[in-house]
Amino acid sequence: MKRLCSMILMLAALSCLAACGKGSQTGQTDADSGAASRKEESVMNRSGQSKGNTDILVAYFSCTGTTKPLAEYAAEYLNADLYEIKAETPYTSEDLDYNASGSRANKEQDDSSARPAISGKVEDMDKYHTVVLAYPIWWGQAPRIISTFLESYDFKGKTIVPFCTSHSSGIGSSDKNLHSLVDGGTEWKDGKRFAAGTSEKEITEWLSGLGIEPFTAEEKEGETSRRSFDFEKKTVKLNSGYEMPLNGIGTYSLEDDTCVNSVSEALKRGVRLIDTAYMYHNEAEVGEAVRNSGIPREEIFVTTKLYPNQFSEPEKAIDEALNKLDIEYIDMMLLHHPGTDDVKAYKAMEQAVEDGKIRSIGLSNWYVEELEEFLPQVSITPALVQNEIHPYYQENEVIPYIQDLGIVVQGWYPLGGRGHTAELLGDETISAIAKAHGKSSAQVILRWNLQKGVVVIPGSSNPDHIQENTELYDFELTDEEMEKINALDRNEKHDWY
Ligand SMILES: Cc1cc2nc3c(=O)[nH]c(=O)nc-3n(C[C@H](O)[C@H](O)[C@H](O)COP(=O)(O)O)c2cc1C
Repeated sequence: MKRLCSMILMLAALSCLAACGKGSQTGQTDADSGAASRKEESVMNRSGQSKGNTDILVAYFSCTGTTKPLAEYAAEYLNADLYEIKAETPYTSEDLDYNASGSRANKEQDDSSARPAISGKVEDMDKYHTVVLAYPIWWGQAPRIISTFLESYDFKGKTIVPFCTSHSSGIGSSDKNLHSLVDGGTEWKDGKRFAAGTSEKEITEWLSGLGIEPFTAEEKEGETSRRSFDFEKKTVKLNSGYEMPLNGIGTYSLEDDTCVNSVSEALKRGVRLIDTAYMYHNEAEVGEAVRNSGIPREEIFVTTKLYPNQFSEPEKAIDEALNKLDIEYIDMMLLHHPGTDDVKAYKAMEQAVEDGKIRSIGLSNWYVEELEEFLPQVSITPALVQNEIHPYYQENEVIPYIQDLGIVVQGWYPLGGRGHTAELLGDETISAIAKAHGKSSAQVILRWNLQKGVVVIPGSSNPDHIQENTELYDFELTDEEMEKINALDRNEKHDWY
């Protein structure tokens, strides 16, 4: 009966729609779905590439192209990732024929348990704090595929901002009825209905009125202030939106099987951050250990670096790294140290981020002056700067400068580097602090780094040391102990970069 009344009301409202119904409501074609590639299944920006540089997702379902441009306006304005909710079995014009009581769309809307399957998925829903959700009104409600979408992810702690398009109906109860599909802990904004052809301005004004801005006040601050370490999760959220572990393994000078074995040992012992470089000649071995680990790829964070002799042909060098590593994508790529064409190489890395080949980019061996000159020439603020840092070379002026830019600092040679480790580990001050905590000198030095907000990547091929280097979270250095180690600074560099 309800359906019959709605039908009568709809008949008038949809007369135009009906006129252009079967002929032009082509919906998603088989050709669309047939062409679905790995890339298409992931989150895309407007140009069809993963941006990976935002905390907002605009997810939309659109069969006849009305909702789509409005979702694109929202994504463009918010600098958000755009994700199309595509039905595994695309809707044909017959499926969308609301005049035929047995049409697929009508049957689905009639059946509250219908959950049309979605093709592909949002790759990393965790990284979004806000999801703008756009859909067409079907018989006064959101299409059932929106229920499938909402039940496929955990939206706890996120804000959902729904909007819809329709021929003439308002948003009605369609947005509120979605609330019960997600578990508690999700904030829902009031939805809004837009007509076909709504301007970009109207969409952006609505979003802005809700306080959904390209960057929230908190994020704006995050752009220019320090990234905080999460000692519970043992990760830090980079300005690129990705999480990186606080401790890892460095692979400098680990070659062939030694490298494969060391990285495999580290992975077995819970290490999830691996640092390599073109110049270490072991990217293939690192990739092998990652692939053979049985650990889901997205749980491992791999950093590699372009060497200055690669800067003149950076695209080729990036592809070479991808080929050697053979792990789908690179989590972090750095420029090894300043050199001719470094801006050109960085710009190629920026493009590779756009292309979804690299997730985050940064620099190594860049200090205050170099950064001041370099940063104005590039678009993406580095997510990481990796420099030599140990108690005898502390960079006490450089570290806060970098951190205040919202960039994470990582230290290489944390234990002093080849030929200097014994002296550093045997240092009286450090040894005494280690004894007081029942820890090793290495652990104290690594912990000192972490408490200064510096990520550590000690290199080792010794399984005991690899293990020892992970046990950094069951003790804390006092302010006094931190001060004592700070006082050991000799401004003594152990390498030339
Ligand atoms: C099965 C079905 C049911 C619909 N029900 C309504 C409705 O109840 N009220 C309305 O105003 N429009 C209704 N429409 C029209 C769509 O909401 C409208 O054309 C929408 O903007 C289409 O969005 P899209 O092009 O992004 O798919 C319906 C369309 C279909 C296919």
